[in-house]
Amino acid sequence: MTTQVLDGKVAVITGAASGIGLATVERFVEAGARVLAADLQVEAGEALAQRFAGAVKFQRCDVTQTAQLRAAIDGAAAHFGGLDILFSNAGAGGTLAGVENFDEAGWDATQALLLKSVAAGAAYAVPHLRARGGGSIINTSSVSALQAGYAPLCYSVAKAGVLHFTRVAAAELAPQRIRINAIVPGFIATNIFGGIMNLSAEQARAFVDQIAERSGSANPVGRSGLPRDIAEAALFLASDAAGFMTGTHLTVDGGLTIGPRHAWDLNAAGPMTDVMGLSPQELRALREARMKPG
Ligand SMILES: NC(=O)c1ccc[n+]([C@@H]2O[C@H](COP(=O)([O-])OP(=O)(O)OC[C@H]3O[C@@H](n4cnc5c(N)ncnc54)[C@H](O)[C@@H]3O)[C@@H](O)[C@H]2O)c1
Repeated sequence: MTTQVLDGKVAVITGAASGIGLATVERFVEAGARVLAADLQVEAGEALAQRFAGAVKFQRCDVTQTAQLRAAIDGAAAHFGGLDILFSNAGAGGTLAGVENFDEAGWDATQALLLKSVAAGAAYAVPHLRARGGGSIINTSSVSALQAGYAPLCYSVAKAGVLHFTRVAAAELAPQRIRINAIVPGFIATNIFGGIMNLSAEQARAFVDQIAERSGSANPVGRSGLPRDIAEAALFLASDAAGFMTGTHLTVDGGLTIGPRHAWDLNAAGPMTDVMGLSPQELRALREARMKPG
């Protein structure tokens, strides 16, 4: 028998119609929660509400429009009789512009989607969480918040902002027994990559399968990251098991950020091999020879 760790809890999940948000709706419902699923995608959202009739209510919501976000959060509390958890997760790749070709409109839209919505969501959720004697807010950040090389500039900056917002907000919210934490996903096979490449919905779905197949070799753990991996982290942060955690983040990346590739892949070249003019195999043979007893 699985434990219903969210029994009686009510959650709002944004970006709930696809990928990480969708997997988290499924996981939270399995754990006993009732969920308001907020997203732009009406057809997928309504299908989700039908699939979990009674436990999931769908509301179309553009999280960049603060009035719509407030309506979704207030609506969840009104519909289910209170609110315990907010998972601010909606997102997309945003503007691809670099430093010099600054794209002002794209910058504002990307920050509104990835960072402003997180701040506004927390603001609107707090009175409801306080009314329940406390609660949990979870924000989706990204490995691109930690290092360069994983995502476009504006996206990465917004995701770093999400981490710092989470820390600073935690200080204000802790006395109210409201915990706020972030998740730092690595490479997760979802539609987000199709969106960045401007693919149609059908092409994006096929592309997700390709990513799931191919991305295993990019991760030290040797398998691809799936939306369910992030949903498990969200479930933990939402639950009382994480009752002593606030203002911090969980990195769920299959080891992607533990170090450069040569740290975990014996066949990859690294600075040592380059500087010494050896292949990774020659360096390994040298080490093994030196370690032989006698
Ligand atoms: N997939 C990854 O590798 C990865 C890695 C790190 C972080 N993330 C983050 O995870 C979150 C979820 O993305 P995903 O990978 O599941 O992608 P996804 O495309 O599968 O899901 C994103 C969802 O957000 C919704 N959405 C987009 N803009 C919205 C808006 N303005 N209002 C409401 N909903 C909106 C989309 O309709 C979609 O259903 C995002 O914040 C993303 O930046 C993803």
